[in-house]
Amino acid sequence: MHWLGPTDANSAGFVHGGVVMKLCDSAAGLSGVRHSGGRVVTAGMDRMTFNEPIEIGELLTLRAAVNAVWRTSMEVGVRVEAERPASGEVRHTNTAYLTMVAVTADGRPREVPGLVCESDDEHRRQEAAQTRRRNRLAERDEILGGRR
Ligand SMILES: CC(C)(COP(=O)(O)OP(=O)(O)OC[C@H]1O[C@@H](n2cnc3c(N)ncnc32)[C@H](O)[C@@H]1OP(=O)(O)O)[C@@H](O)C(=O)NCCC(=O)NCCS
Repeated sequence: MHWLGPTDANSAGFVHGGVVMKLCDSAAGLSGVRHSGGRVVTAGMDRMTFNEPIEIGELLTLRAAVNAVWRTSMEVGVRVEAERPASGEVRHTNTAYLTMVAVTADGRPREVPGLVCESDDEHRRQEAAQTRRRNRLAERDEILGGRR
């Protein structure tokens, strides 16, 4: 949970998008550390949605989960909810997908443990993560192919 104060504001008086991105990055990092049992780095942020503005004074709750794992990388999904403390009203404000890579002490990629998916939701998230990875790799190949 994170309370948003005046130093988190943008020039329009709402919470700066970069503040939410940083919190998502931290939540994803912790999730990656828990799953891999060691240090991780952020390799990329695939997607970040901003569904509606967040006001100063709101309370953010971030939930991060490892959606899928490959050899040394993991996709972590982060769901952000904002609460207006006075009314208790909660809104889903952001979703982010980040790729975290497990690394050794000297920064080299290391293998991560497999992921056990049990619920229907976990299987659905894993399949969606596979689709995003396929798309990311296909996009990279297409762009690199165009340069040759
Ligand atoms: C991420 C990093 C460790 C990858 O190193 P690398 O030498 O490219 O290693 P590899 O080519 O073996 O790739 C390792 C894994 O990273 C993944 N990866 C590399 N770049 C990626 C990118 N831009 N987006 C998503 N995944 C990426 C690869 O797909 C591979 O995953 P897999 O083993 O599960 O198949 C390296 O680029 C790095 O240290 N980057 C800086 C990270 C950083 O400073 N982050 C911000 C602060 S935490």
